[in-house]
Amino acid sequence: MKIALVGATGLVGGVMRKVLEERGYGDCTFIPAASARSVGKEVEFAGKSYKVVSVEDAIEKRPDIAIFSAGSGPSLQYAPLFAAKGTVVVDNSSAWRSDPAKPLVVPEINGDVITAADKIIANPNCSTIQMVMALAPLHKRYRIKRIVVSTYQSITGTGMKAVQQLRDERAGISGDKVYPYQIDMNLFPHGGTFEPNGYTTEEMKLLNETRKILRDPDIAVTATVVRVPVTGGHSEAVNVEFYEDFDLLEVRTLLANMPGVVLQDDPAHNVYPMPLFAEGKDEVFVGRVRRDESQPKTLNLWVVADNLRKGAATNAVQIAQWVEARFL
Ligand code: A2P
Repeated sequence: MKIALVGATGLVGGVMRKVLEERGYGDCTFIPAASARSVGKEVEFAGKSYKVVSVEDAIEKRPDIAIFSAGSGPSLQYAPLFAAKGTVVVDNSSAWRSDPAKPLVVPEINGDVITAADKIIANPNCSTIQMVMALAPLHKRYRIKRIVVSTYQSITGTGMKAVQQLRDERAGISGDKVYPYQIDMNLFPHGGTFEPNGYTTEEMKLLNETRKILRDPDIAVTATVVRVPVTGGHSEAVNVEFYEDFDLLEVRTLLANMPGVVLQDDPAHNVYPMPLFAEGKDEVFVGRVRRDESQPKTLNLWVVADNLRKGAATNAVQIAQWVEARFL
């Protein structure tokens, strides 16, 4: 296997190197690529040092798979060039997610949409991945009518510069700011950019990507995305209304049986998911499972996952594994 990693020097890129190694790709021909600024720098992978190459050079090496985590601009520019050489691209940016011709995949839910002809496969947004992991088995059984979700998103979702901003603020250093406001001791209802309808791009992803992954264009979603000064993972308060009524015990069983989901719900002993516990793990943790007593057929959940793992690197590498097993 020849694997290129575009954005190898970034925060997600670093976790991708770790996850690739964990999942048995330590012996692959590894091609780390990044911006021109990083060409010639060294990155570690599976105990060895590799020189970062330009994206153009990575394309010429015709890898079997190229995993992208370098933002939408580079994905739009370079993914088709890889695809033209026969490389399968797994793209972590939002560049291709809403393209109806490109699969948007969480392997446990809809890996089957990928065909041998697909050369660009989109990895969903981190907040969407963890939410649909919890909701997919419930949607199958009771069919979702409407979701109301509020997120509490880790600053790691904004990349290394955001982590540095928080560190600088804590140390009293005035450094570069990636957010419009101080994030330490603060939070803001702002993830992505504002759209004409008053929602942010991150909020609209929760609607559009959920419909695409769960293959149900009628699901209603309304979201509020909040950035919090946390590093371990994203948390979500999810209120979901179904067409069919549910039994709470059955809901718990469905969640516990969903591959990749861990039910962590024992309020009597203060057991519930938190970023502190989710950090560094691949699973999506679900707790605070309870009926919404204000209206029928409606459930409340608290969902936490490490946004750099299942929300980004792990899901992307799982897609690569899926493709390798079936089409390479
Ligand atoms: P570089 O380190 O050379 O800037 P993060 O999300 O942590 O900010 O990381 C972004 C990643 O995307 C980095 O690896 C960065 O490389 C890479 N990147 C940014 N712009 C480009 C580009 N135009 N071409 C290739 N890689 C890019």
